Amino acid sequence: MARVEFRQVRKQFTDDKKGTFTAVAGSDFVIEDQEFVVFVGPSGCGKTTSLRMIAGLEKQTDGDILIGDRVVNNLHPKDRDIAMVFQDYALYPHMTIRENLSFGLRNLKKDKQFIDQQVENAASILGLTHMLERKPRELSGGQRQRVAVGRAIVRDPQVFLFDEPLSNLDAKLRIQMRVELSELHKRLGATIVYVTHDQVEAMTLGERIVVMNNGVIQQVDSPTELYANPQNMFVAGFIGSPAMNFMDATVKGNQVAVEGASFTLSDGVAAGLSGYQGQKVILGIRPEHIYGEDLAPVLESPHKLAVKVEVVEHLGSENLVYFHVGSRMITAKVNPETIAYSGQPKTFLLDLRKAHFFDPETEERIRL
Ligand SMILES: Nc1ncnc2c1ncn2[C@@H]1O[C@H](COP(=O)(O)OP(=O)(O)OP(=O)(O)O)[C@@H](O)[C@H]1O
Ligand SMILES: [Mg+2]
Repeated sequence: MARVEFRQVRKQFTDDKKGTFTAVAGSDFVIEDQEFVVFVGPSGCGKTTSLRMIAGLEKQTDGDILIGDRVVNNLHPKDRDIAMVFQDYALYPHMTIRENLSFGLRNLKKDKQFIDQQVENAASILGLTHMLERKPRELSGGQRQRVAVGRAIVRDPQVFLFDEPLSNLDAKLRIQMRVELSELHKRLGATIVYVTHDQVEAMTLGERIVVMNNGVIQQVDSPTELYANPQNMFVAGFIGSPAMNFMDATVKGNQVAVEGASFTLSDGVAAGLSGYQGQKVILGIRPEHIYGEDLAPVLESPHKLAVKVEVVEHLGSENLVYFHVGSRMITAKVNPETIAYSGQPKTFLLDLRKAHFFDPETEERIRL
């Protein structure tokens, strides 16, 4: 197994019609040996391109890529000792599972005994042992997915690369496969780089997550850090579901005013915002940190917000209540017993200790 490092890696595509397009803009990160790292971000942000550059399927425009201790910039994909599992895992339909699993090794002209051993081992890890003589069409979607992963395992690579491997599966199977992949990672002690646009999948699988947007890395951190301390509004809005709410606010003395309410800040927060005196900031608060007044827990210093409820969604385990503050739609994720009706006034309590403030110009979080 091995570490992977990007040093100022940039990728530009040149197109006759559109000219030069920067898909990856100077990425720097280290994926440690045996780490499970997830690349996450919206469609087109450069996840697959980054993964393909690790694999050597795409050559970076500049910068260095290291696998283990060596710079692999000019190394052919087959010499990089990586295995990639794609979204469209295309098994060979006319081959048995055993033949599908052994195909790569047979191509490499490995000896039969070694191949058999690798196939048996991968099949046993993935629970495919009793299916080796079947054809892919005789397997369920999840089992086929496991064969695709098995093809990577038999190669015993230094690094596994996964590009949205679960997106063809239904929701239930996806959750099951996520658990299986996490267990597989522990068992193999493998370095895994996994791409997804689904932030829930990223949060559940990744030991660390690389959040990307428009080819630019926004933050590299553990799931808990990303949730608790997002570096900017993009990360704050992307990680967490429903997404973090943003309110337009103005700092006035030791208070921050939003439309319809003014909140007294703790001394520490007021001091942190002193550079914004009289100026606009963005107040960010997650839906789960807003409570209906009737069923709120005991908060140290609750901040009241009286609004007109627009929509209430009953999800069973919780209710989502929507209302406006200024021009922005706010979501509160509240106890399902909370009394709230659309069109009616309602007072909510905000736990401002959990709130963040952002600079409206740079969209960076203001360090308090
Ligand atoms: N061969 C190419 N030629 C020109 N542009 C490309 C090429 N491959 C990718 N791009 C562009 O680079 C950007 C990043 O693409 P990439 O496939 O890395 O996105 P992604 O983050 O994997 O998105 P998705 O979630 O949709 O798979 C996109 O705007 C894409 O159109
Ligand atoms: Mg992609």
